[in-house]
Amino acid sequence: MIWYPYTQMKHLKELPKMVSGKGVQMNLEDGKTLIDGISSWWAVIHGYSHPALNIALKEQADKFSHIMLGGLSHQPAIDLADALVRITPSGLNHVFFSDSGSVGVEVALKMAIQYWSNKGYEGKHKVVSLKNGYHGDTFKAMEVSDDSDFSRSFSTVLHRGFMLNIPKGGFDASPEEVLPAIQELERTLADHQDEIAAIIVEPIVQCAGGFHIYSPLYLQAARELSEKYQVLLIFDEVATGFGRTGKLFAAEHAGICPDIMVIGKALTAGYLGHAATLASTEVYNSFLGDSYQTALMHGPTFMANPLACAVALRSIQLIEEEQYLEKIKCINQIILDQFENLRSPLITDKRVIGAIGAIEVTDSTVFAQFKTFAIDQGVWLRPIGNVIYIMPPYIIEKNQLIKLINVIRDWFEHFLPN
Ligand SMILES: Cc1ncc(COP(=O)(O)O)c(C=O)c1O
Repeated sequence: MIWYPYTQMKHLKELPKMVSGKGVQMNLEDGKTLIDGISSWWAVIHGYSHPALNIALKEQADKFSHIMLGGLSHQPAIDLADALVRITPSGLNHVFFSDSGSVGVEVALKMAIQYWSNKGYEGKHKVVSLKNGYHGDTFKAMEVSDDSDFSRSFSTVLHRGFMLNIPKGGFDASPEEVLPAIQELERTLADHQDEIAAIIVEPIVQCAGGFHIYSPLYLQAARELSEKYQVLLIFDEVATGFGRTGKLFAAEHAGICPDIMVIGKALTAGYLGHAATLASTEVYNSFLGDSYQTALMHGPTFMANPLACAVALRSIQLIEEEQYLEKIKCINQIILDQFENLRSPLITDKRVIGAIGAIEVTDSTVFAQFKTFAIDQGVWLRPIGNVIYIMPPYIIEKNQLIKLINVIRDWFEHFLPN
């Protein structure tokens, strides 16, 4: 029997069963069809069963589906590493593959901590992160994530670093609004630079923490301060990467390059679990030496799995060939227009950026019955706490997107139990 994620199994009723998918449509065993409004945990950016991705996968499977990367290499991995270096912010030249976003974050943190010890600094192993952040479910990833239902059971064994406030005022915040958060960051770095290895943030949008959007000014300041106080800057773009915020990578909003960047989820368009941790040459060079002692001791079995690499490469080509950033602009405009007319006294905030739209309400009970309602209406949407959000596949049609938002509107206007 399956043990389902984030689920109190005692209360679990039978779950809808998917049997096939095409485009944004999920086909269920009972004959229902649903529009996927959240790209299956933000990964399925091209929709289901994309012909070009299916071909890439099958062609690679006919050659070889797996080969260990220890002591061997292969072309799909080499080509994908090259493609990632080309499309990510300039300065990230070295690619370490792994099998999930959480592990990609672990690798980033290992890189940062070992970077300092390789350079002869002892004691620089704490991490600065942001309140409300989420970086995955493995232990070190939980440690740099804010306390939440995801990590609460383990809070006594997590060795926390420094958890700081995110800047107020959203994407377009004024310098004055962002300043208190920058000052807090500077105080923390100034007081503890001898203990701190890195700052890790989800740039621009904290997704799983409820889609809080903050200013690129903060990221620019974090870049300057990390250099001033000698700590590394890590961007976790597992959720924001590959166009989700309207730029190919959220770092581009700030026009800066972190020292280390993690990508996952949409990397393989939902076909296979995979992630990559990219590092600057400065970081990479610190691992060069004559002994194992300074090498990066990590190597997941499925790192650079050839099927994952082949599908990721084809996915990147599609993003470029099909001009997805233009599509994302249209999605953004439709969300903005439709959210404009969505009103309820229960709504406390609406946040939109790129192909993300989030609506925050007074408390999570507002959405207690929403999931069932959404399925009955033919859409797949899952609130996170007191936020309902859409993060659709980029191939979504206008009428499908409007339907998603209409279901949310109907919930507020007609169906919300009193
Ligand atoms: C920003 C961020 N980092 C890391 C992760 C963890 O990724 P995975 O679920 O692939 O381990 C997530 C997952 O939601 C995420 O949103």
